[in-house]
Amino acid sequence: MGYVIAIDGPAGAGKSTIARGVAERLRYVYIDTGAMYRAVALWASRTQTGSSDAHKLEQLAISADIELLPLGRVRLNGEDVTDAIRTPEISALASQVASIGTVRAAMVLKQRRIAENASVVMEGRDIGTVVFPDARVKIFLDADPAERVRRRAVELPDEHPDTLASQIAERDRRDRNRAESPLLQAQDATYLDSTGMTPQQVEDAILKIVRERISNGRSHEKDADTATERTAGTATERKS
Ligand code: DC
Repeated sequence: MGYVIAIDGPAGAGKSTIARGVAERLRYVYIDTGAMYRAVALWASRTQTGSSDAHKLEQLAISADIELLPLGRVRLNGEDVTDAIRTPEISALASQVASIGTVRAAMVLKQRRIAENASVVMEGRDIGTVVFPDARVKIFLDADPAERVRRRAVELPDEHPDTLASQIAERDRRDRNRAESPLLQAQDATYLDSTGMTPQQVEDAILKIVRERISNGRSHEKDADTATERTAGTATERKS
């Protein structure tokens, strides 16, 4: 197993942009675990599986063939679903699906398998607390709510900012208060507030921590080369 850099935090804190950037600079594989929950939610929606049908949702989660491709593309059962999983409806459903313990167990298993053979930058809500409690570097990335709404508004220009604000607030509430693996800062995570920072500044701050933890102060990019020969490729679980 390679190194794991865990980046957790609420929606809109900048996790995807930052995690992707850090992975590129380190030449680690970038894993967006939110996309995995979204893929299960999309499948549930298409099969008209209700968010309370825990048994069926678990079956879908276990059998979903989810591939995370370069440039953030996502494939579900062989189909490119990159755009389909980003609608507000699927965002809401993903948050509901992610509150089911058996669905989470299936996702965690897939996430651990992906990291068996690669150094990864993995972003989500429970990476530092549940998926990889021994991750070498743990970051809790936050930003103030108004800034998070502004960032989402750039991604979803057709949505009214007030609608986005209430959607984010509702997802935050559910993600933080659910019984199963709620969004929580790991005790040994570094808290980073990205409000008012550029992505480059946040990436630099994280790479400084990586340098301290992994490279004993040596240049991270150089160390990354020696730590892993791997370049970011398709991330998919190894079938056993
Ligand atoms: O990061 P995102 O917005 O794409 O995540 C979609 C939903 O999945 C979000 O409501 C929280 C949930 N999620 C989770 O519970 N655990 C993760 N590791 C990643 C995402």
